[in-house]
Amino acid sequence: MNAIQQPSAIYLADYREPTHWIDETHLDVVIFPDQTRVTARLKITPNAARAVSELVLDGEGLQTQAIYWNDARLTQDDFDECDGKLRLKQINESGWLTTEVIICPESNTALEGLYRSRTMYCTQCEAEGFRKITWYLDRPDVMSVFTTRLEADQSLCPVLLSNGNLVASGSLPNGRHFATWHDPHKKPSYLFALVAGQLSCVKDQFVTASNRSVAIEVYVEPKDLDKCSHAIDSLKRAMRWDEQNYGREYDLDIYMIVAVDDFNMGAMENKGLNIFNTSCVLASAATTTDIGFQRVEAVVAHEYFHNWSGNRVTCRDWFQLSLKEGFTVYRDAEFSADMNSSTVKRIEDVNLLRTAQFAEDAGPLAHPVRPASFIEISNFYTLTVYEKGAELVRMLATLLGPEYFRKGTDLYFERHDGEAVTCDDFVASMEAVSSRDLSQFKRWYSQAGTPELIVSSQYSEAYKTFRLTIEQRCPPTPEAAEKAPFHIPIRVSLLGAAGALPLKLANQAVGDLPEDNTEMILELTKSEQTFEFAGVHERPVPSLLRGFSAPVNLRYAYSETELITLLMQDTDLFNRWSASQELGVLAVSNAIKAGTCELSGDWVNALQANLQRDDLDPAVMAYMLQIPSVNYLHDRFPETDILTLHQTRQDLVRRLALSLADALREKVLAYDMRQPYEVSAAAVAVRSLSNTALLLLAEAKDPLALRESITRFKHANNMTDQLAGLRAIARCQSDNVVKEHLAAFYSQWKDEALVVNQWLSLQATRDEADTLVAVQSLTSHPCFSWNNPNKVRALAGAFANQNPGQFHRDDGAGYEWLANVVLKLNQANPQLAARLVTPLTQWRKHGQRGQLMFSQLQRIQGATLSKDVFEVVNKALT
Ligand code: PHE
Ligand code: ZN
Repeated sequence: MNAIQQPSAIYLADYREPTHWIDETHLDVVIFPDQTRVTARLKITPNAARAVSELVLDGEGLQTQAIYWNDARLTQDDFDECDGKLRLKQINESGWLTTEVIICPESNTALEGLYRSRTMYCTQCEAEGFRKITWYLDRPDVMSVFTTRLEADQSLCPVLLSNGNLVASGSLPNGRHFATWHDPHKKPSYLFALVAGQLSCVKDQFVTASNRSVAIEVYVEPKDLDKCSHAIDSLKRAMRWDEQNYGREYDLDIYMIVAVDDFNMGAMENKGLNIFNTSCVLASAATTTDIGFQRVEAVVAHEYFHNWSGNRVTCRDWFQLSLKEGFTVYRDAEFSADMNSSTVKRIEDVNLLRTAQFAEDAGPLAHPVRPASFIEISNFYTLTVYEKGAELVRMLATLLGPEYFRKGTDLYFERHDGEAVTCDDFVASMEAVSSRDLSQFKRWYSQAGTPELIVSSQYSEAYKTFRLTIEQRCPPTPEAAEKAPFHIPIRVSLLGAAGALPLKLANQAVGDLPEDNTEMILELTKSEQTFEFAGVHERPVPSLLRGFSAPVNLRYAYSETELITLLMQDTDLFNRWSASQELGVLAVSNAIKAGTCELSGDWVNALQANLQRDDLDPAVMAYMLQIPSVNYLHDRFPETDILTLHQTRQDLVRRLALSLADALREKVLAYDMRQPYEVSAAAVAVRSLSNTALLLLAEAKDPLALRESITRFKHANNMTDQLAGLRAIARCQSDNVVKEHLAAFYSQWKDEALVVNQWLSLQATRDEADTLVAVQSLTSHPCFSWNNPNKVRALAGAFANQNPGQFHRDDGAGYEWLANVVLKLNQANPQLAARLVTPLTQWRKHGQRGQLMFSQLQRIQGATLSKDVFEVVNKALT
């Protein structure tokens, strides 16, 4: 690619209001095989604030047939079409612009715009897919009222859907029919959707707080009709929860969800017509794991919550993406916490943040939660924008407290209903209700990188004081070498022999003390600060960053004894888990130093004691038994080679299993497999602990695991247990037995695409010398398709992200294969390709080995790249 053609970046600082508005959008979409005709009639009004007469519309891959201005057909001299822009001069007055284009959804493999998936046509417009359907001002601050007429063959596409309410429908000559939908709410083009195809429908309804009845319709392929009830129940719970917790009611008469098999992401919040990846909506006990059920609940809620945080109040520009995503992830996390176990939910989210988001923040693709520039916005649907963005909202909630936070969200929705706004507007509402100055806090939106907190303590026996000195540092990231200090809420307690001690800061008046004063939020705003507690009558163990009150790396030189105290006695259950992870890190550290891996007896005893307690949530216990992931360990021991870390970790897992064998066997045996399946938090927790115990014993090749893995596989009445059995088999049985059971599993489930994905992932994550060969040959298996992102992620994504032992093979063959996959998908599905390349971008962390990754990136760079892959690879190489 030569310099002139290189894609260029766009900047937040260059934001200007649009030159024109589109008050009304009337679409007519006429579907014929290989040839869909889209006629768009747009009511255009010049934006007085800009006073620019040239109108420049976005369009990609459109075959323009005709253009009319106020019904007069324009000739070649009146417009200029080039490089994805249509320029019309002299649009100084309101009028109607009509364009007619032809598109071909059947050959759209990028899954953006209008495309075909199996038996249906569907759309994906976020972020900039609408321009692949028609000429438009394809930016979120242009909001319009949409009326959409769909026309198609009655038998090929009996179902015709779009946003809003159905206002007309009927038959046409030649076996064709039509439907017209009208959405009364103004919306940006990215929230537009249409669906046409052979779909079955499950119907239900919801009565809102103000007693309006809302029709719920879930559209799936006929074979999946039995897998909709969990999504519907989750939706109804989410609707109620948003009324109760945010005072938000649904605003249309109908809420539709459509399940599609080929989808780049999890799901999409199109107004009144959500489109879901099948993996995030279908669920049944036989085919879906507990994690799958919980994911469906979370994603259904997430998309529903977007109706307010995203649709009613939307983003001014794509730099503000976290305005809707960070807030909505925070909302769905709180919902899931309320529906299930809040500690377990927090553990899962923090695990993801610490293993994956922190790595993103420390690598070449690091960007602020509100990026200042991008080449391709699709590359910014990241853990930073979503998960770290949600942590920012959580910190605001922590700083304001629940009452003011709710006032703040009320004000935000009220002030900005129907508007396209910015992250600053969100924070401004929080400031307005609380009279707090959050200007320093806003640095979290513009500075990338994970701050490190270096904490030390000092106890004075003589003065009965305890001091915490906290220093913050933030490593350089691509956008800035130097960082100004962040405003960081640090939730703390001090543990004494008999529990959490009452807290009083040395400079705090007694009258200021809250009723429960055993926990406090320290606000760190300087690069270094000391907090002194008075009246501390014994040397305490500090419980720091409770509930992970800020997305930071905490460094405090805990002794093993102190960590065990936290593990056993902390009154914050999350921090008990956190201590278990730190003990794992300590064990790895000792093993690296000593070259052999001796387990600490105190640690083993503590875990043993916890396993015997019946007042501890079994799901939390299961997480306490996990040694931190290799990726997290690599963050903590950047100098140690990844394979050494992987082997050390494996060794530790085996030894831990051997030391805890009796207690683990008990958990395996105590489990009654015949109980009818239930997804309650309690039932999930029991399965989780029993299956974790089984897998640990399998790692240690325990005789019970040899027997029980087969039993669980054969006699399971649900997918969680069956898959746990198969995983255990894969860890402890002979090669032949493993192959035999993999084959049996496939023949049992070959007609269930989502189960087949699990089967692919399991094989891709096996730590065996021939895994890569097996993975390569699976790409020619009849079940596999390069056009289905779920399949590609199940195989290539799982291999590259969840199989450190084989992906990082010394000969570099893992890297080479991933690069081949990226090159294969680069043009066909740029979004997917750009995501898959991520593991290679971490090459700098891998010393010698990194050179092998580097040369694969260079090889990719040599090809003619899509914008998406171009941006990622170039940033990784500079
Ligand atoms: N906006 C979607 C969500 O977070 C994600 C998405 C982005 C889906 C882009 C498709 C394309 O709910
Ligand atoms: Zn979202």
